[in-house]
Amino acid sequence: MIDTQSNVSNLLAGASFKTLFKEQLMKKPKFVKKYMLYLYTNGYSDPGGQGSIRWFLKMPTRMWRIVSVLRGIWFDRRFDRKHNVSTTGAIFLKDLEIDSSNVELGELYDPFPSGPLKRLLSMLPQVDLSETTFVDFGSGKGRVLLIASDHPFKQILGVEFSPELHEQAENNIRSFRSRQQKCETIESLCQDATEFAIPDGPCVFFIFAAFRGEAFIEVLKNIKESYHESPRPMHLLYVTDPLTHPIPDDDIQSVPLFRNIRSGRFAFDLSQRYPLGYSIFEAEKTTSGH
Ligand SMILES: C[S@@+](CC[C@H](N)C(=O)[O-])C[C@H]1O[C@@H](n2cnc3c(N)ncnc32)[C@H](O)[C@@H]1O
Repeated sequence: MIDTQSNVSNLLAGASFKTLFKEQLMKKPKFVKKYMLYLYTNGYSDPGGQGSIRWFLKMPTRMWRIVSVLRGIWFDRRFDRKHNVSTTGAIFLKDLEIDSSNVELGELYDPFPSGPLKRLLSMLPQVDLSETTFVDFGSGKGRVLLIASDHPFKQILGVEFSPELHEQAENNIRSFRSRQQKCETIESLCQDATEFAIPDGPCVFFIFAAFRGEAFIEVLKNIKESYHESPRPMHLLYVTDPLTHPIPDDDIQSVPLFRNIRSGRFAFDLSQRYPLGYSIFEAEKTTSGH
């Protein structure tokens, strides 16, 4: 049961609704969290939306978001049914057993919606996909890997540090059915993204707000080192909810390698649960060298 009385007094005392929502959510059984967590990732409370009067004034926005979440769940489940996989539902990293010093810098599992991903992949600059490796850093249950396989990439790799999510991704790769599939070399690797060896040849990296701070910088440094050893076409597709997790431009600039070639917000899409923004970066030779 939600402790309504203490929650109301906490709200009046200035605690954000989102913090309280998260606290209550942490206590729920896994199967309840699976979908309710979507409300949390959906920014159920706007940043700064504190105090009871503002909270009530924002009720219509919240209602719209709940509708978006329900619609998103319907689309997520439809994707799973259609392709014979299981990718739906969000999971806090605290509910998973992960052996990595970067857990605190990692974001929860939250699958990326299919509509915006298809649009993003269609925006890829002209590169020879048959020579290109697609990498999803923080690949969870592998939804992005499966959707990317509609494109004729040389290979598709997912890097996920949770053994439980990685195992589900492997099951999904095995059971996936799609008439559009053009790449069958798909692999989920169970490892920390900072330890992933960057593949030879051209690469497209995808990151859906998977980790932040030092972990993200470490990954960028690894990519940069690999690029300097052998300069080749490399693109980074960074997607995020710009309201809660802005694109980490400062981190990207702190490791000079990627130049932003396109940014924007995805137009409304039925499979999308909350606003999503994207940036496409291209690796370029920098004068600063290593
Ligand atoms: C927001 S989810 C994205 C899932 C997937 N890319 C998708 O879009 O469907 C972020 C994922 O990154 C993983 N993750 C976070 N930090 C990581 C790290 N340092 N190494 C590998 N995976 C990480 C989490 O376990 C989670 O599954």
